[in-house]
Amino acid sequence: MTTKQFEFPYISNVSQYVRLDKIGQGTFGAVFKAKCKKTNDLVAMKLILMYQEKEGFPITALREIQILQELRHDNIVRLMDICRSPMQDMKSEFYLIFEFCDHDLAGILRNGQIKFTLGHIKSILQQLLNGLYYIHKNDIIHRDLKSANILLTRNGLLKLADFGLARVLKQPKQNQVNRYTCRVVTLWYRPPELLLGQRDYSSAIDMWGVGCIMCELWTRTPILQGDTEQRQLELISYRCGSIEPSVWPGLGSLPLYSQIHLPKGEKRKIRELMHPYTFDASTLDLIDKLLTLDPKQRIDADLAMSHDFFYNDPPASELGTLLSKYDSMFELKEVSRMQYQNQKTQQQQQQQQHRQKQLQHLRPSHQLQMKPNMPKLPSEQIY
Ligand SMILES: Nc1ncnc2c1ncn2[C@@H]1O[C@H](COP(=O)(O)OP(=O)(O)OP(=O)(O)O)[C@@H](O)[C@H]1O
Ligand SMILES: [Mg+2]
Repeated sequence: MTTKQFEFPYISNVSQYVRLDKIGQGTFGAVFKAKCKKTNDLVAMKLILMYQEKEGFPITALREIQILQELRHDNIVRLMDICRSPMQDMKSEFYLIFEFCDHDLAGILRNGQIKFTLGHIKSILQQLLNGLYYIHKNDIIHRDLKSANILLTRNGLLKLADFGLARVLKQPKQNQVNRYTCRVVTLWYRPPELLLGQRDYSSAIDMWGVGCIMCELWTRTPILQGDTEQRQLELISYRCGSIEPSVWPGLGSLPLYSQIHLPKGEKRKIRELMHPYTFDASTLDLIDKLLTLDPKQRIDADLAMSHDFFYNDPPASELGTLLSKYDSMFELKEVSRMQYQNQKTQQQQQQQQHRQKQLQHLRPSHQLQMKPNMPKLPSEQIY
């Protein structure tokens, strides 16, 4: 092949941006803050890691591009461009260019100085549900909802980001069921149906994540921090009650249900968990409806948006006034920034191991490797 064949004439050159600072390191690429030389606008550049080069352009990046190109919504991060570096040794680096946001929700929750009122929390949830309603209506599921993938601008606009694991839901063929991989969603935000091996899942998997994030807006730390799939199911049972057919009809048909030991006789304690933070009845009711074990009974984005929580006083209050008082979390003083990065790196290392596994399972014909204490799932052919 000649060099000319690798020139990608329709993809713009990354040299039109000045790289300023590294702001994130994910499993599938690093993210940099950068400035457009022409307009002076700030952007976020996500470098696509090509460590699986032999298999071509990474499927996670392809999906992210494909899906984000279709989506236009105030609460979904905007993909502005795709760029490449000049070729060296027959190789180019590829970057996704996004509008820049000053904060991610995980960083904000770790910053004790930023205090939310109930009105602020309502604004965050309203915008998150708006974005989710839009993607779900377009048959897209996110599959990696967590506070680090929720961005906020200094004007108080929320943007759902990181569509690397998102996918389009397909109508199953006649007499068939969908068989998506259940190795998606960062463990702490993973719903019980995925942990039990369900493969014809729905947008309800994202709504469980909303429930976890809603609690986190008060607790300031993820509420279900398991280190294995087994432990995650135990924690869910201790908080949300035993996982049993009495609360979840059809549970018995899930691949792992009969093969794994689940705690019995556990009462649902989700309201008690939140009592140190709030007694507000409509808050507790919405959390309860989001963290419902049976995905069929779990509230969807549409119904959640019309829940009393948003209509009772106080109303959602503008977030911009609060956030504009704080520097971008990517501009923190060197010391606190290092502390933040260290914490984040630790969390990311844990999550990275999970994401590596997810990546493997996005490739067809890969044998699943389960934790030693979990029963084996059949190998996945289709994602
Ligand atoms: N548009 C943006 N503006 C500002 N910061 C961003 C933007 N996009 C991403 N980031 C920062 O970079 C981090 C990683 O980005 P992203 O989640 O898209 O990458 P990833 O490789 O999929 O990461 P992970 O594997 O950790 O989920 C985010 O958590 C956020 O802190
Ligand atoms: Mg991410």
